[in-house]
Amino acid sequence: AIDIAKLRGQSGLITMDPGFKNTGSTKSAITFLDGEKGILRYRGYNIEDLAEKSNFLEVSYLLVYGELPTQKQYEKFSKEITTHTLVHEDIKKMLDGFPSVAHPMGVLSSLICSLTAFYPTSLHPNRSEEENNLSIIRLMAKMPTFAAWAFKNKMGHPVNYPDNSLDYCSNFLKMMFELPAEKYEVDPIVSKALDQLLILHADHEQNCSTSTVRIVGSSQASIYASISAGINALWGPLHGGANQSVIEMLEAIKADGGDSKKYLEKAKDKNDPFRLMGFGHRVYKNFDPRAKIIKKAADDVLGKLGVDDPVLEIAKELEEAALNDQYFVDRKLYPNVDFYSGIIYRAMGIPTDMFTVMFALGRLPGWIAQWKEMRENGEPIGRPRQVYTGANEREYVSMNKR
Ligand code: ACO
Repeated sequence: AIDIAKLRGQSGLITMDPGFKNTGSTKSAITFLDGEKGILRYRGYNIEDLAEKSNFLEVSYLLVYGELPTQKQYEKFSKEITTHTLVHEDIKKMLDGFPSVAHPMGVLSSLICSLTAFYPTSLHPNRSEEENNLSIIRLMAKMPTFAAWAFKNKMGHPVNYPDNSLDYCSNFLKMMFELPAEKYEVDPIVSKALDQLLILHADHEQNCSTSTVRIVGSSQASIYASISAGINALWGPLHGGANQSVIEMLEAIKADGGDSKKYLEKAKDKNDPFRLMGFGHRVYKNFDPRAKIIKKAADDVLGKLGVDDPVLEIAKELEEAALNDQYFVDRKLYPNVDFYSGIIYRAMGIPTDMFTVMFALGRLPGWIAQWKEMRENGEPIGRPRQVYTGANEREYVSMNKR
């Protein structure tokens, strides 16, 4: 452990590590990641096993409480979540205030943050374990409702209320796609594929959004405020927003005649800001195990749904070309989780600017688990240092003399 007391008064010595490339910010027992070997485990269980054999709610329980649930624990957890899927009617007024051009990620983070107003006791720094647990259940329960409502706002359609007779993913899909004039039957292939995608996104140790959740929570801010901040951190194209950027990039390549090699060259050109979206990772330097599973799932799901998406071919060509290109080999740049996920979301009928919302839906239990661990460990407030490079002491000059 780091002896904070010993560090006091040693402000002359600062470790500079921009982007925290090699700085451990915490000890954590949640997710194990070996970037060289391409290993990802939640609480010791391999991601490949969880993606194949488990379901999203079970994985959420595992991440948050540390163990796979027994049948009884699972039933209690699922029932508690379905009990809280409804949201306060006044939240609809807030939703109505957003223009339809509002990006659904902004709507989602705002609605999640608004829970601080609806449940003000969550603001007390010394909340009971019971109160924290209720907040966790509320977040898991209400996030699909908010996510679907953010989509409805964009479409200008009336919102759908949750249907508690359905499982987690089917309920979300129905809230997304049912229209007053048209019943929506949930396709089990779509629901299962979504469940698997959520599992694959559920946690990834100290990434940008998770570190944000922990650092906001370290000031003893409410869990709702912390998760809302995490959603905003996820939004950027270098993080969760990459899934939207990947499809936009693949579409641009298609519109430009489908020459993936040309874009590979652009990505290598240091005078061109273009990067191959969905490629590269701060930690994975061999392959991203999630990308392997998603690539296979993309083939399966599109095949089962009878969807023929030409961008899947472009994506595969691009991957093949990059894997045989010295620039990408030397820098150990491989497809990451976002490279193929958007293609599956699209086949499900989910529009591009909802992709990052889907990521947030999946990452929620990870953020919750990390927030809970940080609080239980009693970690100090996160507060990095800096090396000052600004002006030396100066005399104040009044405005009329400037
Ligand atoms: N295309 C082209 N070149 C790249 C790419 C890319 N996608 N990614 C990294 N590089 C190059 C960099 O230019 C740099 O080259 P240099 O050594 O010649 O200067 C080298 O590879 C190392 O890249 P860094 O940016 O230093 O690596 P970092 O760990 O800081 O960034 C990141 C990782 C942000 C994921 C980066 O690879 C990237 O921008 N990828 C595209 C965006 C993306 O897919 N993000 C999603 C990540 S997964 C997630 O958050 C869920």
